[in-house]
Amino acid sequence: MGIFARSVHNELMDPTAPVLTIDGPSGSGKGTISRRVADRLGWHYLDSGALYRAVGVSAGWADLDLSDPGALVRCAFDTRIEFRETAAHDLRILINGLDATDELRTETAGAAASAIAAIPEVRSALKEWQRNFRQLPGLVADGRDMGTVIFPDAVTKVFLTASAEERAERRYKQLKDKGVSVTLGDLLREILARDARDASRVVAPLRPADDAVCIDTTGMGIEAVVERVLSLVHR
Ligand code: DC
Repeated sequence: MGIFARSVHNELMDPTAPVLTIDGPSGSGKGTISRRVADRLGWHYLDSGALYRAVGVSAGWADLDLSDPGALVRCAFDTRIEFRETAAHDLRILINGLDATDELRTETAGAAASAIAAIPEVRSALKEWQRNFRQLPGLVADGRDMGTVIFPDAVTKVFLTASAEERAERRYKQLKDKGVSVTLGDLLREILARDARDASRVVAPLRPADDAVCIDTTGMGIEAVVERVLSLVHR
């Protein structure tokens, strides 16, 4: 998957490349499923949430006020975001040349991303970047509005869900494995707040595209979901 090695600013999109969109709320397993499906297909992978997180982190570094839309839009245009894959297939994300991968995955970065993602001009600033990930042999795009706004002509659209309780538990296990101390109750509250904010914003709210296949992953293992998504692509 060459996409990791290049800067998102460079190439123009290839409209002949097929796209699979995987949208859904936080903790629905989009990231893991999308990466595995992209690996199996040999397609490129776009983690659109990482772009919003990167703008949030960059704004934090610059000490910008998260309630100042003008400053955030300038920040979205000015921030240089690069995806790099290491020899060990580890995806690293650089912001203005600095490795910010670990900071991007924190709850603080997620909450900042969700807040700035509600600003229409920030979404517009990131639109072309995201579309330029569309390159042959194909693209798996993971986010909230991949099937509705960014790639409305995608050949296959999937919307992943899972109960809020199961999503909080998955996140809890991930963070515990990383040695981060959090409580399940706090995570559940954070997930519900983020769902509400992402689903109620005026521009590109979180919702399945009309032609998306919805998969409820509650109680399903990762491999079962991967196989189900691949069967939709091959259909
Ligand atoms: O997928 P994620 O948790 O990394 O996304 C972080 C936030 O970014 C999410 O709460 C909402 C926003 N986002 C968005 O608005 N549109 C996208 N396509 C991806 C993420």
